[in-house]
Amino acid sequence: MTTIIGVLVSGRGSNLQSIIDHVESGYLKNVKLSVVISDVKDAYALERARMHGIDAVFIDPQAYGNKMGFERKIIGTLRLYDVDLVLLAGYMRILGSEVIQVYRNRIMNIHPALLPSFKGLHGPKQALEYGVKVAGCTVHFVDEGMDSGPIILQSCVPVKDNDTEDTLAARILEQEHKIFPEAIKLFTEGKLKVDGRIVLRREK
Ligand code: GAR
Repeated sequence: MTTIIGVLVSGRGSNLQSIIDHVESGYLKNVKLSVVISDVKDAYALERARMHGIDAVFIDPQAYGNKMGFERKIIGTLRLYDVDLVLLAGYMRILGSEVIQVYRNRIMNIHPALLPSFKGLHGPKQALEYGVKVAGCTVHFVDEGMDSGPIILQSCVPVKDNDTEDTLAARILEQEHKIFPEAIKLFTEGKLKVDGRIVLRREK
C-alpha cells in the first residue's frame, strides 16, 4: 500500500530534499510525496518541491482571521491530497490541537536537539550555551505540547570545544538527513507501535 505524504515547511528545506532524495533513490518505497505546504511565501523548500514535480502550496497565515482558520485550511489541503502521514520538516509553528486530533500519531517532526532537552527554537545554540558535550537530533510524533510527543529515533553528535552555533548545527543536520528518512521508512513499513509515550519497533 502506498503511503501518501504531505510535508509542512517554513524555510530552506534541506530535510525535504533529503526525503525527496531517499524516495528517488528507492530507499523509501511505496511512498508518494504529494504536497508541500509552506507558511512562508518565498521558502526555498517550495522551489525544491516544484523542481521534483511535487505540488507546492503557500498558505498565508495572515489571510485567515485566526490560527484555527489557518489550520483548517491546512487540514483541508492535506485532505484534498488524501495524506496519510504529515511531516514537519523545518516547520516553525506550533500545530494546533485540531490538526493533531485529525492526524494523531501520523505527524512526525524533526528537531535539532536531543529531546526533552532544548525544545523550541535554536536547539544547537541552546545546547552550546548550556555546555553539553553531546548534542543531536530527534524525530518524534507530534502531540499537543511543544516538542513533547513520543520519540521515534534520536542520533548523537559530539560537541567540540571550538564549535559555533553554525558548525554544531551543520553536524546535527547531517544526522537529521539520516534519521528522518529512517523513521519514515519504519512508519511506512508498519513497524512502529505507539504505546503511550513509548514508541516500539515491531518486526512484521
Ligand atoms: C532543521 O535543523 C530542523 O531540525 C529545525 O529547523 C531546521 C530546518 O532546516 N527545526 C526546528 O528547529 C523545529 N523546532 P531545513 O529547512 O533545511 O530542513
